[in-house]
Amino acid sequence: MTTSRTAPPSVDRLAPWAFAEFVEANTHDTAYRPPVVDGPVGPTIVQGGRELVNFASISFLDLERHIPVRRHFAEGAHAHGLSTSGSRMTQGICRPHQVLEETIARRTGKERAISFATGLLANIGFVTAMSSSAHFDTGIEVRNHDTVFIADRDVHWSVWKGLEGLGYGRNVHAFRHNDAADLARILNRLQTGENRKIVVIAESIYSADGTMGPIVEILDACDRYGAISMIDDANGFMVYGPENRPYAREATAIRERADFVMVSLSKAIGLEGGAIAGPAAAIDAFELLSGTSMFTAAIQPPTAYAAERTIEALAVQPAIVDDYLAHAARLREQIHASGTATTPTDSYMLSVPIGNDAAALQMREWFVEDGYLVPVFSYPAVTRNQALLRLFPHAGHTEEQMDGFLRTLVAYRRRLGM
Ligand SMILES: Cc1ncc(COP(=O)(O)O)c(C=O)c1O
Repeated sequence: MTTSRTAPPSVDRLAPWAFAEFVEANTHDTAYRPPVVDGPVGPTIVQGGRELVNFASISFLDLERHIPVRRHFAEGAHAHGLSTSGSRMTQGICRPHQVLEETIARRTGKERAISFATGLLANIGFVTAMSSSAHFDTGIEVRNHDTVFIADRDVHWSVWKGLEGLGYGRNVHAFRHNDAADLARILNRLQTGENRKIVVIAESIYSADGTMGPIVEILDACDRYGAISMIDDANGFMVYGPENRPYAREATAIRERADFVMVSLSKAIGLEGGAIAGPAAAIDAFELLSGTSMFTAAIQPPTAYAAERTIEALAVQPAIVDDYLAHAARLREQIHASGTATTPTDSYMLSVPIGNDAAALQMREWFVEDGYLVPVFSYPAVTRNQALLRLFPHAGHTEEQMDGFLRTLVAYRRRLGM
């Protein structure tokens, strides 16, 4: 029997969703078809066939220069295969997951950790587990539908996705961004009985604006009102911590005082995956209650293996992160010296306020024409006409690339009368 080629199914039935109109209305400021990248991403990127100096990479440490990550990946693939080929509950976890989870628990200062295929799934799983009710044949049940969450308004999309549907104003509240006094006000209002189950969620470094949250004050408020804390440390994990680095106070508080910590392996670790670390009994219960560990695939074994090797290498070679932070601080100083303001933080993420959305989008196009990939946050990612350039300095950027970028930025600002 021969099979004849048929056309792909028509999308006529999708008309009520108005996708075509949506794309049409938005193509002026958003690339809806992701550009295709050839070769590995690093300080430069080959996008759509053109090499650009890359200020968009969230894996910014240029690790391969110091740690044989690809060799570790190959060793992991050889020893443990490419796939877990089954869920944690039916087949179990691979040895690299176990070792990775132990390492993350140790590095975050928590009793235990559970890994997820991505940090996004870790956050959704955390919220799901903390608000689940389940009844087991053994007669054991948990009833946590009465959990109340209070989150910083700017926490990552994944936290809000998890909280969706839990009842805003009843089980879900938001405090003003980085405002621990507003959090305390909400806690004070909600704190009515001994058995309230309140979970406060905040980030360390906010990907939205590069700021470090007021971690100590948030944890103080949690202690005062008996709330559980969860800090999403996706952007701070293995970057902030030792005494000599910025935000040592916040990193120590996360380690010593936060009940739960979420980490992502797609940032400093340069791979993919995520985890929640916290008290052993809770983490064990998350196996059954989070959903995003049981009903989906795990981190691939070679990735789990290489991630663990990378975390340990970063711990014993602090110069890798120290040098990077000095490099990012140098670029910040040079931007300031050129008369350009950045948002006032001391993190490695650099945000240059541009304001007018159209001007920022114009700049992005000019940058690409001149050989630089510079992400722009404009409406709806941020408030209308409060557009920003969002730069991730890369450890592999040369002086020449940094100087070239600065000269280009100054020239554009002049051209736009800024
Ligand atoms: C604060 C924060 N939380 C969670 C995530 C999601 O992490 P992952 O990329 O591992 O899914 C990100 C990544 O953008 C993030 O910045």
